[in-house]
This record gives sequence, C-alpha cells and structure tokens, in this order.
Amino acid sequence: MSEMQTKYWHVDNRVDVLKTYPQVKEAADLLKKNEVVAFPTETVYGLGGNALSDEAAAKIFAAKGRPADNPLIIHLASKQQAADVAVNISETAEKLMQAFWPGPLTIILAKQPNKLSDIVTAGLETVAVRMPDHPVALAVIQAAGLPIAAPSANRSGKPSPTSAKHVQDDLDGRIAGIVDGGETGVGVESTVVDCTGEIPVILRPGGITKEEIEAAVGETAIDAALTDTQKQPKSPGMKYTHYAPDAPVYLMEGSKEWIQSQVNRERQQGKKVGLLTTEENLSFYEADVILPCGSRKDLKTVAHSLYDVLRAFNETDVDIIYSETFSTEGVGLAIMNRLEKAAGHRWIRETSK
Ligand code: TXA
Ligand code: MG
Repeated sequence: MSEMQTKYWHVDNRVDVLKTYPQVKEAADLLKKNEVVAFPTETVYGLGGNALSDEAAAKIFAAKGRPADNPLIIHLASKQQAADVAVNISETAEKLMQAFWPGPLTIILAKQPNKLSDIVTAGLETVAVRMPDHPVALAVIQAAGLPIAAPSANRSGKPSPTSAKHVQDDLDGRIAGIVDGGETGVGVESTVVDCTGEIPVILRPGGITKEEIEAAVGETAIDAALTDTQKQPKSPGMKYTHYAPDAPVYLMEGSKEWIQSQVNRERQQGKKVGLLTTEENLSFYEADVILPCGSRKDLKTVAHSLYDVLRAFNETDVDIIYSETFSTEGVGLAIMNRLEKAAGHRWIRETSK
C-alpha cells in the first residue's frame, strides 16, 4: 500500500459551532470523494468511509488490514436514516433506537437490497447500524450527507483507539485524514444486538449493558459463543484475536497476595513483568511496570482506560503482562470480553488449598 499524506485536524467538541468548522467540512468533503477519514465517537475512534461505495469500503479494509469476511458498522446522523439502509425494522428495534440512540448500541437489521457496498456488509443480507453520541461524529456524518461505514480506527488485531494519537500510531500514512476531538468517553466499543429474530440477541457486549437492554425491551439473549469458546460466533468479527499487546497477557484470578507471589516467581526467572491493576490495589504491588486501569468502584472508569493501558504496555519492555480480572456485571461483561481476547483466553487461577 502506497504511503499518503494524512491530514490532521484538531476540533474541540462545542456542538453549536461544529458544523461550520472548516475542518469538519474538509473531512466530509474527503468522505464524499470516497477517501477514508478517522473521527472520534463516544466509544472509540472510527475509520469512516462512504458506505455506498466499493472504492471507499476497499480502502477501509486495506488501511486496517482487516479480513474481508468481517462486515462494518454503518454510522448514521439520525434515527430516520436507518430506513435508508435497512428494511423490516421491528418494534423492538424501534424501541431500542428510541431508548439508546444516539449512543453505544449497534443494531443488526435486514439490509436494503442493492444499495450498500457489498464489501461493507461482507456479502451478508443483514446490516449493522448505529447513531453515535458524539458531536464531532454526528457533524462529520451530517456534513457528508451519507451513511458512513466505520470500524474502529486501529490496525486489525490491535486494541481499538481511544485517542487521535492511537490512530496516528496505527494508520498514519495509510488514510486521508484524522479528526482529533480528544479522548473518547466510553472506551469500549458499542454493544452489537441482533434484532432480526423474535428476541434480541447480544452478539458483542459493549457500552450499553444487557441489564439496560432488558429494562427497555424485556427478554434478551446472549450469543452462546460469548460464553463458550467452542461455539462459532454469529458476529464475524468476534472470532478474531483482538486487542492484544505485544507481550502475552494472562488473566489472574486470586488474591492480591497470590498475584504478587506469581509476579515474584516470574521475576526470579529473569522475566520483566507488567501488571494491569486498579487504583485500589496500585500501591500494594511490586513489579517492573504497574499500570492502573480505573477504579473497581466504577467499572466505567476501567472501560474508559482499558485500551490506553493495553497500548501503553507496548511502550515498555515487559515480557509478560498479568491482569487483574473483573465481575461480568454491567459493563464488566464488555471489559472481560476484551480482556479474554487480549489474553487469548489464558487464565491462571489460585488453586484453593
Ligand atoms: O463502538 C463501535 O461500535 C465502534 C465505533 C467506531 O463506532 N466500531 C466498531 O466497529 O467497533 P468494528 O468494525 O471494529 O466492529 C464491528 C463489529 C464486528 O464484530 C462485526 O463482525 C460486527 O460488528 N458486525 C458488523 N456487521 C454485522 C452483521 N451484519 N451481523 C453481525 N455482526 C456484524
Ligand atoms: Mg474493531
């Protein structure tokens, strides 16, 4: 892939002035020309391209090095726009849009035939749609006047980017531009929920919790592959290893004292050990690199910092990374899903004596 000059714009997030920002217009003009541009959403940075164009879609897959069988989420600037790209929108789907859009919920619907690029949908009959809750994302999509396909703006396999710097680290020279709107808020991607059947099925846990979805629409299932690694996931993207730093990650289940003893054992063998911990436990440990990832008192803070911390380990020379683990309640389900992938499902457990 030939190197290109990546444009860089900085915007601040004041909603009222955004649409007139020349930076937003320039980014939108590039999207209209089927170039690909990264912008912030409330979850992670997305790499946007015209969802109606094979040319734009192919550029997204090439820039990321993304497998062709992994479809993209289409980003919309309004709820009404869903009817432009999807058909047979059920009452449940409508309720979910009313309850959570704009926001970190992606809904799988039957697609409008002959409209979207087949590269975007990876040839499926369904389409993933969401309306992001971020003034910069909404302004760019609206100014482009197009449905915008946007996967997370990382190289395939890397943790998703939660800052413009992360995007630059991965994609500088490979994309037309980056709109820097500061750090993202939620920190993990949107929840993906399949609304093509009788009851909604969560295919990827994310920013909106199962508990919140059930409160809005009642019974909700979770794709069996999320709890059973032997099963084939319904969301193509969920089968790939992801979010992985360069050093191997291990999920540590046990007391702080036991985790410290495991760290000591590795260090005695000459290994440099990194530890992903939380504010509560930070001062307890001794290791080569200790990075706090939010507070156990509020798992949203853990989600917010998770990818930044996973990426930060790559700037160190640790040989292995031990990570504390979290409950799977609320946003904990998304956190543990991403950590499991980062660790390739490697756990070390304190055996009861
Ligand atoms: O928060 C997010 O969702 C971010 C921001 C940028 O919006 N985007 C994001 O996109 O995470 P990406 O491409 O990294 O993940 C999209 C996920 C993948 O797991 C993909 O397989 C799934 O959505 N997906 C897309 N279309 C689908 C479909 N028709 N059926 C099932 N899963 C689908
Ligand atoms: Mg991604």
